[in-house]
Amino acid sequence: MAVALEFRKAMRRYPTGVTVVTTVLNGKLKGFTANAFASVSAEPPTILICVNRTARTHALISQAGRFCVNVLRLDQRPIAERFSKKDDADPFASLPYTFARTGAPVLDGVLSYFDCELAEEHSAATHTIFIGNVLACEAHDGAPLGYFDAGYRDFGCSTT
Ligand SMILES: Cc1cc2nc3c(=O)[nH]c(=O)nc-3n(C[C@H](O)[C@H](O)[C@H](O)COP(=O)(O)O)c2cc1C
Repeated sequence: MAVALEFRKAMRRYPTGVTVVTTVLNGKLKGFTANAFASVSAEPPTILICVNRTARTHALISQAGRFCVNVLRLDQRPIAERFSKKDDADPFASLPYTFARTGAPVLDGVLSYFDCELAEEHSAATHTIFIGNVLACEAHDGAPLGYFDAGYRDFGCSTT
């Protein structure tokens, strides 16, 4: 079996986008930065995210049964940084957003979003794979915030 260090080094060679996964439970908003996000199928529209069981958002997604994946634009790096902190500051404070169909927040200015009802949960190692049925999604033009070799990147591409 590959050792954790080799595994991390190999995964760092895999470029990804950056998302903020949001949810809402009893009116309380929560979100966290995630790049373990993938398409599962187009028909029906289905996606997955992998969430560490130690993340505070983990239990909320499970209980709320809904979540929204916000794909960040290049200029939204400060938002990614804010939502990856483990402090008690409210990352939604003075951040513009609206509510998606499920009631989960959609951050203003994102490149796209996927609003989901939770369909399945699978425990795997330290994480839970949450599979979502996409109830609504939207795409906008712009440049993505990238993540590669353990750092935020400008991939130099855009839809415009
Ligand atoms: C670029 C980036 C990607 C991340 N991707 C994930 C992820 O896919 N799943 C995960 O559980 N944590 C991921 N994290 C870590 C969480 O954002 C971080 O642990 C966060 O503090 C969890 O917040 P919470 O405990 O308030 O839910 C990522 C962090 C960064 C900076």
